[in-house]
Parts: sequence; structure tokens; C-alpha cells
Amino acid sequence: MRVVSGIQPTGDLHLGNLLGAILRWVRMQDEAQCLFFLADLHALTVEVDPSRLGASVREMAAALIASGIDPNKSIVFRQSAVAAHPELAWILQGTARMGWLNRMTQWKDKAGKNKEGSSVGLFTYPVLQAADILLYKATHVPVGEDQKQHVELTRDIALKFNTDFDVDLFVPPEPYIGGGTAARVMSLRDGNMKMSKTDPSDMSRINLTDSDELIGQKIRKAKTDPEPLPDDESALDGRPEAKNLVGIYAEVTGDSVEQVLQRFAGQGFGAFKPALADALIALLAPLRSRLEEFRKDPAELDRLLRSGSERATEIAAPTLAAAYDAVGLTR
Ligand code: TYM
Repeated sequence: MRVVSGIQPTGDLHLGNLLGAILRWVRMQDEAQCLFFLADLHALTVEVDPSRLGASVREMAAALIASGIDPNKSIVFRQSAVAAHPELAWILQGTARMGWLNRMTQWKDKAGKNKEGSSVGLFTYPVLQAADILLYKATHVPVGEDQKQHVELTRDIALKFNTDFDVDLFVPPEPYIGGGTAARVMSLRDGNMKMSKTDPSDMSRINLTDSDELIGQKIRKAKTDPEPLPDDESALDGRPEAKNLVGIYAEVTGDSVEQVLQRFAGQGFGAFKPALADALIALLAPLRSRLEEFRKDPAELDRLLRSGSERATEIAAPTLAAAYDAVGLTR
């Protein structure tokens, strides 16, 4: 079992990232060799501010470590420091098909009506993601539901490459997605939209850097409906905001949705929301204070990331060499 996953270093780490990915990565560290990276090459597919990218990478690395990723157990690195990622991605561009990429919902969502004006990188983004995964022969890729399609595409690319070049090189990976709300944490403003760092409203998400007061305020203002909470999970269907908030509470406390409903059945959000805010603060406040500690030592963060990229480069080298070999570019 080998675990690989990444996160784009743009914007703040939010509750969706934490429940959908990072806190699940933390739990996998004792079960398998894990590689976690800051996907800074992926960040180039949309507009970036060159003067801020380096700081964003460090900030996200600090957030991961504060959340419990242990650089002594896991290999933590920046994607751009391991040249094998873009090298393999280029080789895989010959394998991926236009039709496959055209079907990617993230491409459709992000490009919207502006396909002609979008970067080529935004379109071929999932091929780089496939390289990220296949380079390390990852068996498990812990991600949120929104990345499932990209991991499935990675499987298709792996299988086609192996078949086309008659090799047994790439391991088709499994998307490893959390259950319940963790798979897809929704916006606090609209229960039909996922919580996202690109939502223009900061009130739609809880960030790792939010103060206790701000968490309380965001939960108080979170969209809900006028009904009290039901005693049965199926009665949450058709109530997306209620379902999301109850699901978040369950994830954060470790209780099941049924247990949460047993406790709050018949009560309105006036009673539930303060309990949810308290549970979130209990989870996030200790991570936030650790983040503040790690931020104070950027040199140490750089050292950790450098050491991570050296180890990742070593693991990636034989796979990359075999890929060159397979396509006839023996070096
Ligand atoms: P990114 O940076 O958008 O998100 C990082 C991780 O957080 C998960 N996530 C969510 N999970 C549940 N609910 C949400 N609302 C939510 N929002 C985000 C994402 O599914 C992801 O697991 N393309 C990737 C980064 C990447 C990658 C990879 C991942 C690059 N190469 C190789 C895995 C393997 C991305 O943009 O994630």
C-alpha cells in the first residue's frame, strides 16, 4: 500500500480540505508509506501572483504539518521541486485522449463559457495529476469526491500506457474517498455547492486560520431552514443545508449522524448551531495555534520540504526511467 495525494497551495486550508483529505491523510500515516505534496505546478493553470506563490507554498506546508502530517513519517514536498512530475506528465500527454479530458467536470466548471480563453494547462491539468500519482506507483489516493474523476482518469491512462507499450509499469490507483459528509463538505451559504477556496464569499467556508469568534459568526450566519432537526437521517434528504451541518458535526465529533440526531431531534438551529461552533473550535483552535508556531520558522519549513523532495526524487527516478525506456527514449 502506498499513499499519494496533493493539495494546491493557493488560498487558505478550509474545512472541506481538512475533512475530505488532510485529516484522513493524517490517519493513514501509520498504515502505509505516504507522500503528500504542495501542487504548485497545478497552481500555474490559473492566474498566479509570482510574488506570493513561494509564501503560499510555505503557508500550506505549515498548515499540513499543524494538522498532523508528520514529516518524519510522511514525505512532504513541493511538486515543482521534483522535475520527474512534469517530465512524466509530458510523456503521458501522448497517452491521454482529448475526449477523456473534455469530459472532466472540473475543466467544464473552471473553464465555463471561456474555453477559448482558458490556459492549455487547465485542460491538461489531470494529466499532470496522473503523473503525480503514477510516478510513485500509488495504490491509494485519499481525496474528496470532487477529485474522484481525476483518479479514475489516472487509472485509464495507466492501463492504456501499459497496453500500448506492452509493459507492466503503472499501477492503476484507487480513489480513496471518505464516507458521509467528509466526501463533500458543502458551502455554508448554499447546501448545493461544495465548500471551496474559490468561492468569493469567505462566509461560505471555515478556514483553518479563522479565529474562534469568526467561526462562531460564520456558523450563526450559515444558511438553514426553519424546520427543527428530525430524529431520522432520511428526513434530512431535501434539506441540503441541514444535512451538511449535521454531517459536519458528526465528522468533527466522531459521532454517527444518527447519534447526532438523537441528541438534537426536535430542536431548532438556535440550539444546534452553538454546539456545532463549539465542536469546530475544539477541533480547529489547537491546529491554529500550532500553525502559528510553525510559521515562525520558515527556514525549518524549507529544510523539511527540501528533504522531502530529495526523498521523493529518489522514489520517482526508477519509474521515470522505465517510462522513458518504454516509449523508446532510453537515456
Ligand atoms: P484541492 O487543492 O482543490 O483540494 C485538496 C483536497 O481537498 C479535497 N476537497 C474537499 N473534500 C471534501 N469537501 C470539499 N468541499 C472539498 N474541497 C476540497 C479535494 O478533493 C482534495 O483531496 N487536483 C487536486 C490536487 C492534486 C492531487 C494530485 C490530488 C494534484 N495532484 C494527485 C491527489 C493526487 C486539487 O486541486 O485539490
